[in-house]
Amino acid sequence: MSTIEKDSVTGTATTGHEWDGIKELNNPLPRWWLWVLLATVAWSIGYWVVYPAWPVPGLGTTRGAIGYSSRVDHENELKAAKSLQAGMLTKIAAATPEQIAADPEMRAFALAGGRSAFQLYCSQCHGTGAAGAAGYPNLNDDDWIWGGKLDEIYRTLRYGVRWPNDDTRMSDMPAFLADGVLKPNQIDDVADYVLGLSGQKADAQAAERGKTVFAENCAACHGETGKGNLEVGAPNLTDGIWLYGGDRNAIIASVRYSRKGVMPAWEGKLDAATIKTLAVYVHALGGGK
Ligand code: HEC
Ligand code: HEC
Repeated sequence: MSTIEKDSVTGTATTGHEWDGIKELNNPLPRWWLWVLLATVAWSIGYWVVYPAWPVPGLGTTRGAIGYSSRVDHENELKAAKSLQAGMLTKIAAATPEQIAADPEMRAFALAGGRSAFQLYCSQCHGTGAAGAAGYPNLNDDDWIWGGKLDEIYRTLRYGVRWPNDDTRMSDMPAFLADGVLKPNQIDDVADYVLGLSGQKADAQAAERGKTVFAENCAACHGETGKGNLEVGAPNLTDGIWLYGGDRNAIIASVRYSRKGVMPAWEGKLDAATIKTLAVYVHALGGGK
C-alpha cells in the first residue's frame, strides 16, 4: 500500500513503515560498517578452517589445518618447566647447604621450594609462619636449642630430635620428681632460682637455696649461668624465650617430669634436595646464624 515517499524535513526516502505517525527513514548502513562486518565473517570462516573449532562428538574438536592444540602447548610448557626443575634439583641434591645458600640461582630456587615444603611438612607443628607454639620452637628468632648455623639446622632436619636413629639429637633432662632425684621443696627452690635467672619476680631466700640445687643438678646441661648449651639441646633459661612456658608452674612441671620434645627425622622420608632446600629456607627465616 505504501509508495516511495520522501520525508519532508530531511529529504530522505522512507521505508513506508509508520507507527502512530512516526515514519521510518531509509538510511542504509554506512559502507565501511558493512565491509567490517563482511571481513569478520570471512575471518571467522578462515579461523574455523585453520584452528580447532568444530565440536565433534567423541573427538573433542576438529584439529584445524595447522594442527594447533592449546592442550599440547600446555603439556610442552609443563615438560619444559619440569626438565628445568629437574636440572636444578639435581644440582641442589649434589651441593651442600652452604653452596646452595651462596649461589644466587640455587638460593632463590631453594627458598621458593623450601617455603612450600615447609607448609606441607612442618607447619602442623611449627605453624605456617614458623612462629611455633608451646612445645614447638619458633624458627624465626635467633634463639636456638640445637643451633642455628646452616649445617646445624641441616643435621636437626635429617636426624630429628629424640627420634629413633643413631644420629638423632639426643639428650634427656631427668624427670627430677618422677625419677626421685629431687624433693618437691628442692624443685620449688630451684624454680625460684630459674625465675630470678630470667629476670622475673622470685622469693630471694628460696632462690638462694635453689642456686645450690641448680649448680649440682642443672648446670651440667644448662650451664653455670643458665645460658644453655647447644651441644645437649638445653635451652637458655635467662632470655625470657620459653619452649614450654616461663611462669612458676610451667617451670616446676618441666623440672618435675621433664618434657622430652620430639621432632621427626626427615632423612628417608624426603629426598636430599628437599631437606637441603628446607634447611636453607629455615636458615633464611631471620634467625639463622
Ligand atoms: C611432629 C611435630 C614436628 C614436625 C612435623 C616438625 N617439627 Fe621441627 N621440631 C619439633 C619439636 C618438638 C622440636 C623441639 C625439639 C626439642 O625439644 O629439642 C623441633 C625442633 C626443630 C628445629 C630445631 C630448633 C632449634 O632451636 O634448634 C628445627 C630447625 C626444626 N624443628 C625444623 C623443622 C622443619 C624444617 C620441619 C619440616 C620438615 C619440622 N621441623 C617438622 C616438632 C616438629
Ligand atoms: C641432661 C641435661 C639436663 C639437665 C641435667 C637439666 N636439663 Fe633442663 N632441659 C634440658 C633439655 C634438653 C631441655 C629441653 C626440653 C625438652 O624438650 O625435653 C630442658 C628444658 C628445661 C626447661 C624448659 C625450658 C623452656 O624453654 O620451656 C626448664 C625450665 C629446665 N630445663 C630447667 C632445668 C632445671 C631447673 C634443671 C635442674 C634441676 C634442669 N633443667 C636439668 C636438659 C637438661
